[in-house]
Parts: sequence; structure tokens; C-alpha cells
Amino acid sequence: MDEAIKKAEEFVRGSHGNYDSGHDWWHINRVRQLALYINDKENLADSRLIEITALLHDVADSKFSGGDHESGYNRIRLFLKENGMEMYSDRVLNVIRLMSFSSRNKSGDKSDPLMWVVQDADRLDAIGAIGVARAFNYGGFRNNSIYDPSPEHIANYNIHGTEGGPSTIKHFYEKLLLLKDMMNTETGKLIAIERHNFLETFLKQFYSEWYFSDQIRDQ
Ligand code: ADP
Ligand code: NI
Repeated sequence: MDEAIKKAEEFVRGSHGNYDSGHDWWHINRVRQLALYINDKENLADSRLIEITALLHDVADSKFSGGDHESGYNRIRLFLKENGMEMYSDRVLNVIRLMSFSSRNKSGDKSDPLMWVVQDADRLDAIGAIGVARAFNYGGFRNNSIYDPSPEHIANYNIHGTEGGPSTIKHFYEKLLLLKDMMNTETGKLIAIERHNFLETFLKQFYSEWYFSDQIRDQ
């Protein structure tokens, strides 16, 4: 299967060319490394299959294919078939379909340990310093505000959350700060706690700079 991994790398590098840099080859490579690390600790699934699934997990991301998941899934299925891995196709595609945050309420078989590991790895790459970098990069890609304080925020700068218009800071409350409690594996949870703490530190510093003049005024 080592040859298959090389082929998957080539396929993925070719597929992610026009993705934002938060979904580029380096994201894929980090997820692969995190997934292998978690699996080394917990021995939940075949490490080669983990590697293949991690490599392929974002090929069908609809944000980069005009909202069309199915064509991405078909490309993955074809790739696996052409490279002698047809027998893993259903399992790998089930995991890829179900693992994204936006699929969290979808039905399907969520009992596959392969999914627990690769999903934790993908989620860990959305928090911590890399998570912050990816979020602001994605927000820029979408031309979103970094932060949009509502009038209530301005009146009371200690209250922060989902108020205000769309912004990358809002994304922290809608997704990033929720991920720590959604980890499947013990190893994932441990890493998530450290990365989550960094998000909290980042937000604290962000608000203290944003509301700097208020704080001076109140002193
Ligand atoms: P998933 O693959 O779990 O559905 P996404 O593809 O939505 O996750 O997210 C991938 C990356 O882009 C993550 O780092 C995520 O935090 C970031 N991201 C997604 N949506 C937004 C947004 N609205 N604002 C800022 N960052 C975002
Ligand atoms: Ni991903």
C-alpha cells in the first residue's frame, strides 16, 4: 500500500491547487500526521487506511467545487478503483462524507474508528495557532470582516459572542470553541485542550486591543 500512498499524495496535490491556503496540501499533510500520531497512541485502525483517508478527506469539499460534493466523491471512488483499493471505497467514502463539522447532524455509520481518528485530526487543525491562522485566512478569502461588534458590544465590551454581523471572530463561537468537546479520542482531547486554551488567550488579547480606548477611559 506504500505505492498507493504515493499515488494518493499525487492525486491530492493535483486536486487542491485552487483551494485557499487553509485547505491546501499543508493542511492535508498536518491532518495525516496528527491522525497517525493519534492512532499510534490508541491503535484504533489500520495506519495505512488512516493515511489514505486523511489524504483524501478534503478532495470533495463543496466550497471548492461549486457546492457539488458528488463529483468529488466520484473522483475519489475512481481514484481508489484505478489504484487497486476498490475494496476500501465504501468505508473511506462513508468516513469522508460524515466527518465534516457541517455534516455533524447527518445520518450514517459513525461507529467506524477510522472516522474517529481522522475527524479528530481534522478538527485539531482548526484550533490552536494554526486554527486561528486558517480562520482569518478563510475569512479573507471570503472577504469577511475580522470582527463586527454590535452596539451592545460597544456599550459593554466584556460581553462577547455571536452578536453582530458575520465575521471571523464570530466563527470562533459558531465552531472553533465547540470542537474541544466534540473530540472522539482521548489523545485528540488532550491536544484539543491545549489548543483550545490558546484560542481563549487569543480572544482575550484580541478584545483587549480592540477595546483598548474603552479600557483606558474606564481606568
Ligand atoms: P469542515 O471540513 O469540518 O466542514 P470547513 O471546511 O468548514 O470545515 O473549515 C475549514 C477551515 O476553514 C477551518 O479552519 C475553519 O475554521 C475555516 N472556516 C470555515 N468557515 C469559516 C468562516 N466562516 N470564517 C472563518 N473561517 C472559517
Ligand atoms: Ni480538512
